[in-house]
Amino acid sequence: MATDSLNTIRRTTWPADLSWVAVSMSTRSCGVADMRHRYGPIVREEALGNVPVVSLFDAEAIEKVARYPSRYPIRPPTEISVVYRASRPDRYTNHGIVNEQGEKWAKLRQSLAKEVERPSTINRFVPDLDLVVQDFIALLRGRRDASNFVPDLELIVKHLGLESMSTLVLGRRIGVLNSNVASADREFGLKLARVVEDHFCACRDSYYGLLPLWKYIPTQTYAQYTKAEDEFYEIISKFVDEALQDEQNTSATEPVKKVFMSILDAKDMAIEDKKSAVIDFIASGLMTVGSTLIFLLYHVAKNPKVQERLYDELISLIPSGGSITVKDLLNARYLDAVVKETYRIQPTATSVARILEEEMELSGYHLPAGTVVLCQNWIACTDENNFTHANEFRPERWLPESCAGWKCRENLVAPYGFGVRICPGKRFTHQMLLLLLARMALNFKMEYTGELTTKFEFLVIPEGPINLFLHDRQ
Ligand code: HEM
Repeated sequence: MATDSLNTIRRTTWPADLSWVAVSMSTRSCGVADMRHRYGPIVREEALGNVPVVSLFDAEAIEKVARYPSRYPIRPPTEISVVYRASRPDRYTNHGIVNEQGEKWAKLRQSLAKEVERPSTINRFVPDLDLVVQDFIALLRGRRDASNFVPDLELIVKHLGLESMSTLVLGRRIGVLNSNVASADREFGLKLARVVEDHFCACRDSYYGLLPLWKYIPTQTYAQYTKAEDEFYEIISKFVDEALQDEQNTSATEPVKKVFMSILDAKDMAIEDKKSAVIDFIASGLMTVGSTLIFLLYHVAKNPKVQERLYDELISLIPSGGSITVKDLLNARYLDAVVKETYRIQPTATSVARILEEEMELSGYHLPAGTVVLCQNWIACTDENNFTHANEFRPERWLPESCAGWKCRENLVAPYGFGVRICPGKRFTHQMLLLLLARMALNFKMEYTGELTTKFEFLVIPEGPINLFLHDRQ
């Protein structure tokens, strides 16, 4: 058995010959593929002061973890959030749906996420989301310069994320996509977007910084995190209190209000917990939706044949350019294939983390219960052993009649995670992305110059500038 030099943080003993590397910011952000290449299909990482993590790259190992029939799957919590929330008992009675475990987690999930996950609720959102999407398109059109380039697209998609999350979770529009909205409201929305970004950056630094000193002394990272959490809480409190007050007069239609009301109506829960649930939902969606949309537009713009096939499908289903219905989205099979292919080749969340609940044999190694494993789905999705033409953007692979005989390990495409702890925003986001891509493709011929670069901020996000040009279709 290997002796682990960091046994203060070790929860188990480790297999003798499992490769390991010390993880740092740089290996995390750009080196996962390289790590697989250099160290093989299973790699143990150690970071000073952090719990060791075992990365799994093999399809069989990933599928075994994903299939484990857990009642309460354990995802390692974001420690900084747990520490902070525990320090504020006046505001939080638990760690929240994202970080809580066991029966407590199951109860939160059951009371808070049921409505967001219900297909009928999500379908009823389509008309309201379509209005958000149409405002987004109008904003893009207005912001283009003479060459049809859209400056500050990264910022505009963040506003889209905020507006769509506010529509879903709060049941109301903030108006950050609409230049006519009162400037105070816009300021408020912009502040919220900034706070969420600070929050994610502090999470990233607390996880992947060279030394997690914040655990021992109040560092800048911890200060940044607490400031973002405090501001976030104050903003959401204001929304929730206002919404409760003018519930009678709000212009939001019933289906749109339903998710918010289901959170506020949750039984046996203090109002503080409901506010923190709203915070968790908004934060989870805000950073992810916009980045995923940019990845989607980039791949479509870079593949003119895909773009034309997509346009042909959409124009045949929605010839008038009028409203888009749930039925249209269901019939648009190529549209769905394009989104799915983007999930495969460039997901925003590249891996899924779990703590093993019992010992497991993975890639020939015996891992004890308590081991933190990272299922590296993205790397497995771009491996020729699992997908034919794995590094090419080929949406047709998802239309079985087109690619008979192609290797396709569909289960590995898990941009929203897996099992009963899967992202509760999955249905909503997928529907939103279908709607967005459909309207973008109907309105514009998209062109992208150069390559899109990405960076790691807890999630993979695009790194500007984003060289997207939008030429009017008519
Ligand atoms: C493109 C957009 C999104 C992506 C890529 C994404 C991805 C993920 C992933 C990978 C997980 C971990 C799942 C697991 O451990 O198996 C997760 C969890 C979660 N997501 Fe999302 N998400 C997105 C949008 C949203 C939205 C819109 C919401 C709000 C409704 C949301 C709320 C949550 C919550 C609350 C959790 C924690 C669930 C739990 O632990 O029970 N996400 N998400």
